[in-house]
Amino acid sequence: MNPPDFLPMTRPSIDEETIQGVCEVLRSGWITSGPQVKAFEAALSRYFGGRPVRACNSGTCTMEIGLRIAGIGPGDEVITTPLSWVATSNVILAVGATPRFVDIDPITRNIDLTRIEPALTPATRALLPVDLAGLPVDRDALYAIARRHGLRVIEDAAQSMGAQFKGRPIGSSGDLVSLSFHPNKNITSIEGGCLVLNDEGEARLAEQYRLQGVVRSGFDGLEVEVAGGKFNLTDVAARVGLGQLPHLAQFNARRAALSRRYFEELTEHGATALGLGLPLADFTHSNWHMFQVVLPEERLNLSRGQLMEQMHAAGIGTGAHYPPIHLLALYRRRGFRPGDFPIAEYVGRNILTLPLFPAMRDADVTRVVETLMRLLRKAARY
Ligand SMILES: Cc1ncc(COP(=O)(O)O)c(C=O)c1O
Repeated sequence: MNPPDFLPMTRPSIDEETIQGVCEVLRSGWITSGPQVKAFEAALSRYFGGRPVRACNSGTCTMEIGLRIAGIGPGDEVITTPLSWVATSNVILAVGATPRFVDIDPITRNIDLTRIEPALTPATRALLPVDLAGLPVDRDALYAIARRHGLRVIEDAAQSMGAQFKGRPIGSSGDLVSLSFHPNKNITSIEGGCLVLNDEGEARLAEQYRLQGVVRSGFDGLEVEVAGGKFNLTDVAARVGLGQLPHLAQFNARRAALSRRYFEELTEHGATALGLGLPLADFTHSNWHMFQVVLPEERLNLSRGQLMEQMHAAGIGTGAHYPPIHLLALYRRRGFRPGDFPIAEYVGRNILTLPLFPAMRDADVTRVVETLMRLLRKAARY
């Protein structure tokens, strides 16, 4: 257990009204998928400009369901980024397809769109981009590639709730869009996620994949045509999500204000002169899901793990998002090697997520920056 003044990397903000709402659901006699899930889906659909939405119990299964709806399976290849949570690629394996990684752009830290076309093969069926830290991949360029080559797109927008592209929320356009409501996300339903779909036919298929493939009719009719899973969201979780959605804009505004402060204070403390890589200062599109710096490993005589330990000892939580997927044992066994995607490997080795959540105070940013810069100066070789 961390001491009370420990500053975690992230923490959800759940208001009293939501907590009361959860109590009411618990007392109602209906706690699994029911009216709250329907209400959450309706609210999400309004947010995404009226597109059909289905909620599930994770942002992992919504990607998997998206792949299944797009008809991706054995023999198919899906292009994605190596710098993401491993779920991004595991779902491609889960449907029996093959992930093909493309290195990242060092500025956005997202998939380098200019490298996608050279990586296409006759087996490529879909693109699965990730908006790392809530900074959206350029949707115009992405969909231009998809259109040119007849590819489906399953957007891993797990981190981009409330992010915008050209003035419209991520999810309000595009092909299949998957979002996560895990507790560290910009809004949460404890665990959960949703899939934004193109039409009611896809939505019905999503319902089948969500729950054992079941289609009910009348009082006792039941049929199954696809092998669905057990991915339904509970009403308790949906009530949490419903209570979060109205706060999304305000949460994201606070995240942006804190991020601006990080930029100002890091610059004042000479972070760039020390070689610290800052995120792209995009206050138009990003939802500032994470504030991540990249350590200058060649100039430091301590490892990222040691720095995280020292930050922790100073009462500050940090994260390492993410180790490059292709270097995890499961993927090395599939033939990937160090050096395959050098930019993702460098960033993955050195990226450090600093605390960022709506309830953080301005003074917390100052404390993080002062501590980080003090430790980095002590460790700097030159
Ligand atoms: C980029 C990315 N993809 C997928 C996921 C999976 O979401 P969930 O944890 O809700 O399954 C996450 C969540 O951490 C994520 O950050």
